[in-house]
Amino acid sequence: MRAATWTGVNEVSVETVPDPTLLNDHDIIVKVRKTTSCGSDLHLLGGYIPFMRAGDVLGHEFMGDVVEVGKGVRERKVGDRVVVNSFIACGTCWYCKQELYSLCDNGNPNPGITEGLWGQSPGGCFGYSHAVGGFAGSHAEYVRVPYGDVGAFVVPEEVSDLRALFASDAVSTGWMGAELAGTKPGDTVAVWGAGGVGQMAARASMLLGAERVLVIDRLPERLAQVREHVGAEVIDYSTTDVMAELRELTGGRGPDVCIEAVGMEAHSPGVHGAYDQVKQQLRLQTDRPSAVREAIMACRKGGSLFVLGVFAAAVDKFPLGAMMNKGLTVRGAQVHGQRFTPRILEHMARGELTTEHLATHVMPLEQAPKGYQMFKDKEDGCVRAVFEP
Ligand SMILES: NC(=O)c1ccc[n+]([C@@H]2O[C@H](COP(=O)([O-])OP(=O)(O)OC[C@H]3O[C@@H](n4cnc5c(N)ncnc54)[C@H](O)[C@@H]3O)[C@@H](O)[C@H]2O)c1
Ligand SMILES: [Zn+2]
Ligand SMILES: [Zn+2]
Repeated sequence: MRAATWTGVNEVSVETVPDPTLLNDHDIIVKVRKTTSCGSDLHLLGGYIPFMRAGDVLGHEFMGDVVEVGKGVRERKVGDRVVVNSFIACGTCWYCKQELYSLCDNGNPNPGITEGLWGQSPGGCFGYSHAVGGFAGSHAEYVRVPYGDVGAFVVPEEVSDLRALFASDAVSTGWMGAELAGTKPGDTVAVWGAGGVGQMAARASMLLGAERVLVIDRLPERLAQVREHVGAEVIDYSTTDVMAELRELTGGRGPDVCIEAVGMEAHSPGVHGAYDQVKQQLRLQTDRPSAVREAIMACRKGGSLFVLGVFAAAVDKFPLGAMMNKGLTVRGAQVHGQRFTPRILEHMARGELTTEHLATHVMPLEQAPKGYQMFKDKEDGCVRAVFEP
């Protein structure tokens, strides 16, 4: 089959690779209809997560048709149109029973690397390096999905392929941030980052009853999408003092909930941004945390911050004093998609949650190298490149 692979030098190439086969009784094979690039893939291509090998198949956000099922599969059957969560979870371990699916003890058959980095390993993820299992990704004609009954959800008839696709990762991640940050009716929520994840965190906050939702970015075409398709307010951080603006808009108090959807390659103007960039390039810190810092400083006393952006290891100038003295609750996680996907698909079926606008560029899988270049450079307003095998 054809698949988009990592070349070994931070580039994408489309190659012929072996078809996947059923390896375990709970596996299913999905023939991919649509798969999309995610901001997390840019961290891989940027070389910030150095555990890819040349020839590894990329991609973790996808939907398609079940074409084969293992003999232990009970719920899914051949012919089902499914969306598959990006993290692989067994559904039966202690963590899965707590609905902390991305922490599954059985999802990552290669936990050594992350145990060394973090003390314990999270679960496995499709197409996201040997640190999280070394699973072949979804930018391919076919994908083997371990624990198919747990990670693959039947898409309701009313939901189009392009809408369902993003339930895999972008929407479930955004939903997790809004819900696990404790968003309540009447809250003001501020979201850093207007990519697919930030936009969906904003939409989920609205569906959970937030009274006011503000999204911060600098890219005009993304801010325009937030206004038009999400229905939230926007702040352009390249022309506005974000801290002052958030205070102003919240009667001096600051947002109740802050959601960071930017990650380790945050851009930031001025001296702080340059400092982070130099330290990251000299390998003196692994991540550039400017949006996390700003969110901690902006959040109201006693408020809550959820870090959705991916970070690898250690950062500098983390405002621990502000976090502690202001009594903030700070959480983060890789996506527990299996927990939120059923409810997301219901909202999608009712037309309350739309995602088609994120798919700014839809192209054949053969054009994945071009799609990735456009997504990385934000060329032509690219928010997500979607590939059709
Ligand atoms: N937790 C999870 O399970 C999970 C799942 C998916 C993605 N992610 C992570 O979420 C983050 C966002 O993903 P995405 O697909 O939306 O990425 P993206 O690259 O499309 O979007 C990131 C956005 O952040 C903006 N940005 C950069 N610096 C900023 C700053 N200082 N303040 C405000 N905005 C800033 C950029 O302009 C861009 O629009 C990434 O780090 C990705 O790895 C995490
Ligand atoms: Zn992702
Ligand atoms: Zn598990």
